[in-house]
Amino acid sequence: METRYSRFIPPRREKTQVNGNRRIAIYPGSFDPLTLGHDDIIRRALKLADGVVIAVAERTTKPKEPTCPLKKRVEIISEVYADEPSVEVVQFSGLLVDFARARGARLIVRGLRAVSDFEYEFQMALMNRSLWPEIEVIFMAPATSYTFLSSSLVREVASLGGDVSAFVPPIVLEYLVEYYGPGVAGR
Ligand code: PNS
Repeated sequence: METRYSRFIPPRREKTQVNGNRRIAIYPGSFDPLTLGHDDIIRRALKLADGVVIAVAERTTKPKEPTCPLKKRVEIISEVYADEPSVEVVQFSGLLVDFARARGARLIVRGLRAVSDFEYEFQMALMNRSLWPEIEVIFMAPATSYTFLSSSLVREVASLGGDVSAFVPPIVLEYLVEYYGPGVAGR
């Protein structure tokens, strides 16, 4: 029997990854260091995508002097997700959209903590879309307990010897201990 819905043809869904059926999300950033707020977004993104590529940027829009060398950041983050087959960690230089296109991904994920993040994120999203109209940027809200958390605050607290053990994964904390001393782990 024909109902009013039986003629419905669902719209064709573009695959996020062109080479294969896996929907890949790119999660870009400087991750200096990776925090539990980043980790929270990565785990949320894994509910939307089959895989997440953590793209550690050599060049950032807001110029900043990195505390931890790029290669070391990639190494530490790779260790954090060593047991997560759906998470890959890669460094990239050049434009984010070129990296995404080269990876066959059409989805970029960014965390949005507060209204203060919005303008910067919105500008980047629209610029990325004008550079490559096929890209989609989605903003995800972190768990409420991480809305105040940022890498720059962790760096500042750690550099002053404060305990940051509640804000970063244990592997990152070990690196921070090496760099800043045992106080950052509350020891
Ligand atoms: O964690 P950050 O530092 O806010 O991340 C910013 C990042 C890395 C996502 C952004 O600076 C970026 O995409 N850099 C790559 C170069 C690029 O594509 N610039 C144009 C962005 S509109």
